[in-house]
Order: sequence, then structure tokens, then C-alpha cells
Amino acid sequence: MKNKLARFAEMEVLPNVFQPRHTEIFRTDYTLKGKWGQEVFHNNHPIVLEIGCGKGEYTVELGKLYPEKNFIGLDIKGARMWKGAKTASEAGMQNVVFLRMYAEMLESVFATHEIAEIWITFPDPQMAKARKRLTGTRFLSLYQKILAPDALIHLKTDSPFLYTYTSELVKINHLKEFVNTADLYGCGLDDKILGIKTFYEKQWLSRGKQIKYLRFSLGSTVSFREPDIDIEKDDYHSEARYMNV
Ligand SMILES: C[S@@+](CC[C@H](N)C(=O)[O-])C[C@H]1O[C@@H](n2cnc3c(N)ncnc32)[C@H](O)[C@@H]1O
Repeated sequence: MKNKLARFAEMEVLPNVFQPRHTEIFRTDYTLKGKWGQEVFHNNHPIVLEIGCGKGEYTVELGKLYPEKNFIGLDIKGARMWKGAKTASEAGMQNVVFLRMYAEMLESVFATHEIAEIWITFPDPQMAKARKRLTGTRFLSLYQKILAPDALIHLKTDSPFLYTYTSELVKINHLKEFVNTADLYGCGLDDKILGIKTFYEKQWLSRGKQIKYLRFSLGSTVSFREPDIDIEKDDYHSEARYMNV
């Protein structure tokens, strides 16, 4: 494994990595907004976005399973993302790219309806800060702006807190729920897609945590309500949430 500096340097030259500078996306539209299909993938296939992709396991594996779809792995941490970008580049995958930026800026980078599907895999539950939760109302409103109508959002999580929070949010906002399980591997639903395991998922499985999965869509909801219930905090929050990987 290369050290962080070497990985950062390689990120600058990998052809499948996009790292917009702050000035290119802050209160301004990125040059590729609305043009990812045309200028990056050179086709009009659906674009699937993984938010908080880490090392990009889902982005790369889904890219292999679905050559007729395009995949973008988004994360702010470049040293992690390097792994997925390097793997996809070495395999010559034309339908997989990585985007290093904060998800908060999504609207500057993608046009209305430009994204066909979103995956969120093992995000930090952000138990103290709803605004930072990748399934919170602030982010759902952002996703709504870039998603095609009826697009699916997938959440895989180990966190009972985030699972309960997101399930409740789906319920009180009357979002369309397609799958909701507190025990993905115990309910017989896992298949070649849901069985893809990320770096963090493997850590949680090795600690005996059950994996939860939610699949829902936003419909035409424009204003989302935060759940108004007390949710028990995860007891293993400080144990290893912030592993430096
Ligand atoms: C716990 S890790 C999970 C990584 C990967 N999905 C996995 O399962 O191994 C959460 C990732 O989300 C990223 N992340 C969290 N909030 C983000 C944001 N607002 N914008 C971009 N990335 C974010 C972090 O940098 C981190 O890599």
C-alpha cells in the first residue's frame, strides 16, 4: 500500500478522478454539471452515485455487474478513494469514475434529474448532528434536486441509530419504501448486489454487528420533516467509528 502522499499525487493524474477546486463549485456550476454522460462517459446510460464511497467497493463492483450503467463514487477523503480509482483504472473500466468533494455541494455538480440512483454505504450516523447525517432532511432535499423521478436510494448501515432514524424519516414523510430490513443477511434478501461488502462493512461484521438495509424513493416530496422521536444512541459509537483508514 502506498503512503498517503503518494496516493494523493497519483490521484492528480488518474484519468478517472475528478477533484473540483472549491472555487469551481462554490456558488457556481461545475463545468461538467449536466454533462457527465456526454463528456465523461460518452453515452447516455443512467448514472448511479455512491455518496461517502470510501475505498469505492460498491462503485467498482456495481460497475462490473452493470456495464450498461455509469457509476460515480463520491467522497471527500482522497487517500481512501485512491484504492477504488486505481482498481477501476487498472481494470480499464470506462463506466466508473471518482469524484472528490463534499456532498454538500452536489447541486453545483449535477443537474436536475442527472442522477438515476443513490447508494449510501455505512455512513457515520452523526448521532449529535442531524445536519451532517447523509440520510437527514438536509441531504434528502439536496438529493431531490439531482435525482430522476422515482429514483431509488439505498442505505446499508450497521448503526441501529441511523437505521431507526432513517426508517422513521421515511415513514413520517410518506416516502415510498421498497425494502426495510434490520438484518440483511438473516432475512434471505442478500444477493450479488446486496452481498457486496465494503471495508467498513467487513469491520462491523467481524464485530458481530447486524447489517441493516433500506431502499426507498423520495417521490415528489419537496419539504422533508425531521423525526421527532428519541432514538437510543448506538453503544459502540466511540469504539471504532473514527478508525483512521
Ligand atoms: C464510515 S466511512 C464509510 C466508507 C465506505 N462507504 C465503506 O463502507 O467502507 C464514511 C465515508 O463518508 C465520507 N463522508 C462523510 N460525510 C461526507 C460528506 N459530507 N461529503 C463527502 N464525503 C463524506 C467520509 O469521508 C468517509 O469516507
